[in-house]
Amino acid sequence: MMTGDDSRFRKDFPISEKIIYMNNGAIAPTPTVTINAVNDFMTKCANEGPDSAATSEYVTSILARLRLQVSRLINCDPEEVVLTQSTTDGINLVANGLDWKNGDSIVIRGGRHEHYANYLAWLRISQTKAVRLHELGIDENGLFDLSELEKAAKNCKLVAMSHALYNTGAVLPVEEVGRIARQNNALFFIDAAQSAGTLQIDVKKIGCHFMAFPGFKWLCGPTGIGVFYCSKQAAEFLTPPEIGWESAILSDSGIIAYMEMPARFQTGFRNYAGAAGLLSSIQYILDIGIENIRQQNLKVANVLRSELDKISSVKLLGPEEPDNRTSIVTFTASLDSSSIVKKLEAANIVLVDRDIAKSKKGVRASPHFFNSEQEAVQVAEQVKGLL
Ligand SMILES: Cc1ncc(COP(=O)(O)O)c(C=O)c1O
Repeated sequence: MMTGDDSRFRKDFPISEKIIYMNNGAIAPTPTVTINAVNDFMTKCANEGPDSAATSEYVTSILARLRLQVSRLINCDPEEVVLTQSTTDGINLVANGLDWKNGDSIVIRGGRHEHYANYLAWLRISQTKAVRLHELGIDENGLFDLSELEKAAKNCKLVAMSHALYNTGAVLPVEEVGRIARQNNALFFIDAAQSAGTLQIDVKKIGCHFMAFPGFKWLCGPTGIGVFYCSKQAAEFLTPPEIGWESAILSDSGIIAYMEMPARFQTGFRNYAGAAGLLSSIQYILDIGIENIRQQNLKVANVLRSELDKISSVKLLGPEEPDNRTSIVTFTASLDSSSIVKKLEAANIVLVDRDIAKSKKGVRASPHFFNSEQEAVQVAEQVKGLL
């Protein structure tokens, strides 16, 4: 368990000495070990040649270890881990790789309330193919009625939704959704951008077929690297939308054959420096333990919520019950969100504004385990001073 002394983590994130950074739901800073891992990788490439035998062997070992760590993180097989650039890449692999037939349907949640990356890809399929998009109705936290899903999932091809919401921090009941999808023989895609690194994930327990997440949010890895999980069974339903020299082979008679998982979805050289960094970050995160991280994150979020709640013009969003939310704390106030964010940044506090409904924005704080309760109090004090 973490103790009240979180300084051992703060020293791993030099930013903690300079500013209050609570924008980890967008991009988290990398810990010092990861900066060193990327630096070591680049130094090795510079000294030994980026495509020499020694470096190739090193890259192979990094990729194998990275897949192993991801498999521990989400409880899958290493061969089910495809390295991408971002969450969006994984979403597009599913949207553009499934064989859509006239009359197919996709069930999503909330439409414009969802992150656009996890909406536009499905919307485009519905607009370019004869595919119906069923958008489940939502309450103000973004939660939907499972009984509506039960009905909508009948004869649907794919259910696609986030694990945790980027705007309200609500955690969706993915295990129940997985059960309903299975009962209806529907495929299930999860956008885990706001959960990987901050919530326990077990793809086997959830029973999802696909999942995508970035390395650079709650996993504290470098930008430009992400993960697409594709279960071995579901890989059969997905034709790689792109092709390249690493993902397929050509026979003498001109027949193209895709490689096995995961290479079939990886068209060429990857972001190896990013892979070295992400490997280091996931090892670091797993060493601390996701449950410890979750507890620390909620502790800071709870202080922030209760301090903000004391300010009369502040309206908090997201479920009240801690089990039903991540550490994302979003609020509106008497001053518009973008002005609040700008003024906070001038005081060395980094939050962000995000859509919470059509044409409506809120201020979002997304503390991670290196943030402290003291920082949460300071953020609320600063907000109070602006209103
Ligand atoms: C829920 C969700 N999905 C997708 C994305 C897009 O992520 P990426 O930049 O990894 O494609 C984000 C980014 O904030 C997000 O919060």
